[in-house]
Amino acid sequence: MSPSESIRSIRRIEIMNGVNLDMLGSRDPEHYGTITLAQLEQQISEWADGLGMEVRFLQTNAEHEFVEHLHELPGLVDGAILNPGAWTHYSYAIHDALELTGLPAVEVHLSDVQSREPWRRVSVISDLCLATFSGMGPEGYRAALRRLREELDGVESGSVPESASESESEPGTGEGS
Ligand code: DQA
Repeated sequence: MSPSESIRSIRRIEIMNGVNLDMLGSRDPEHYGTITLAQLEQQISEWADGLGMEVRFLQTNAEHEFVEHLHELPGLVDGAILNPGAWTHYSYAIHDALELTGLPAVEVHLSDVQSREPWRRVSVISDLCLATFSGMGPEGYRAALRRLREELDGVESGSVPESASESESEPGTGEGS
């Protein structure tokens, strides 16, 4: 951690993985690689440490649990990273629950959803997210942590952080909104 990072406030971030993401490791390695969810969470924790962030994790296959978890977040965390899996493409319930949190959020997809089936190109949560990182594999979560760090530091100082103008995503990774 650099000296400037060590004096910044700790940020608490919720990492929420949705339906079927518990199957990472054995699920469609061409799109999702071979990393397991436990390994992914371990990797994210290490990246978060380096950025002075604390992470908590949820994975569930039950949409109501995902929604109820979002209901509980305000006051507990400073931001959220969401990979809702297939719910991304149609769950207005998750959209509305995320909106209710009022938290800064970033959307992540391991695979490049823009280059797959047409129905995967639709995200019903992206309008609520600061950015979408798609097709970067696990690195998308690191990019999302950095994006939230910048956002939260900017809010605290009341200014736009120097690095805010830099794009964190690779070309064609679907960062938008
Ligand atoms: C995913 C992409 C979704 O289309 C899919 O339904 C998933 C995983 C991804 O991480 O690439 O379950 O969100």
